[in-house]
Amino acid sequence: MKRIFSGVQPTGNLHLGNYLGAIRNFVRLQEDYECIYCVVDLHAITVWQDPKELRASTREVAAAFMAAGIDARRHIIFNQSQVPAHAELAWIFNCVARLGWLNRMTQFKEKAGKDRENASAGLYVYPNLMAADILAYHATHVPVGEDQKQHLELARDIAQKFNHDFGVEFFPLTEPLIFGEATRVMSLRDGSKKMSKSDPSEFSRINLTDDADAIAQKIRRAKTDPHPLPHTVAELEARPEADNLIGIHAALSDRTRAAVLAEFAGAPFARFKQALTDLAVAKLGPIGQEMQRLMADPAEVDRILRDGARRANAIAEPVLRQAQDIVGFLRP
Ligand code: AMP
Ligand code: TRP
Repeated sequence: MKRIFSGVQPTGNLHLGNYLGAIRNFVRLQEDYECIYCVVDLHAITVWQDPKELRASTREVAAAFMAAGIDARRHIIFNQSQVPAHAELAWIFNCVARLGWLNRMTQFKEKAGKDRENASAGLYVYPNLMAADILAYHATHVPVGEDQKQHLELARDIAQKFNHDFGVEFFPLTEPLIFGEATRVMSLRDGSKKMSKSDPSEFSRINLTDDADAIAQKIRRAKTDPHPLPHTVAELEARPEADNLIGIHAALSDRTRAAVLAEFAGAPFARFKQALTDLAVAKLGPIGQEMQRLMADPAEVDRILRDGARRANAIAEPVLRQAQDIVGFLRP
């Protein structure tokens, strides 16, 4: 069977972009694939995380997976650090990937910022660990938001170089799955910036745990332009804020941008924003409430993660062993 792997970092502030770009797609793939969804805590600590918050955020992401509709019994939900194969295979990949490849990674450049000397070494080799996540399960398909495309290309390069260097057909070349009307949700304050967990402005994003009032306030204050909504999708190109809000509406209502415009063409933003608020509250409210319910019982979330890790380990460990054998590690 075709196998899916994807990950979300437990770094707090899970938002609408994470939901529409990734988690919602994870839910939809459950019928046709064997799915493995991972809370990537090893990736999270490539930038500083307070230990107490890391634990809480790990449970929060697991709760979001389940609240959105992922079935942890039929599929696997676990946190990365419980399965040693990720870190062990990542070491091998650190020795496969070339510095030149890593130097091209835009996420590293963005996250390291100007003070690159002070970035952690882990942040630099982050994409190698991500390749290990995927390839430890021989996953064939990886659903992600648009921003992860470059990392997935690197994972293919690593698989290809490993296979070539050792003369094997061992690791598969994985395909990205980037789909839906909102593969790149932008900040509500600035249509040229990605909606992100680390944006200092709470008004830049809608969090999955926001209540109806918070959602309404954030949409009301979302940046727009002074014109009424256009008639065609082509006209959205020069209007990033309008494009973003229309895209969010389209994704939440499971329609195309064109279909949403057919309903709101010529409308003032105020009317559209009210409709978007109602829609967002209807779709996100129940997920947020279910997350709160699940997080109120951390022991149960921990149990599910432990059970998922046990099943994940049963898949990843034999793959790691074979990779180590191919490399020439002697194991008595
Ligand atoms: P992260 O929060 O960086 O671990 O991202 C988790 C998943 O959400 C990845 O598949 C990302 O591509 C996706 N994602 C993050 N931010 C956005 C966004 N603004 N729009 C769409 N997808 C996103
Ligand atoms: N780098 C991804 C992100 O920030 C998270 C991630 C880690 C991931 N390992 C993965 C995504 C493996 C897909 C597959 O969004």
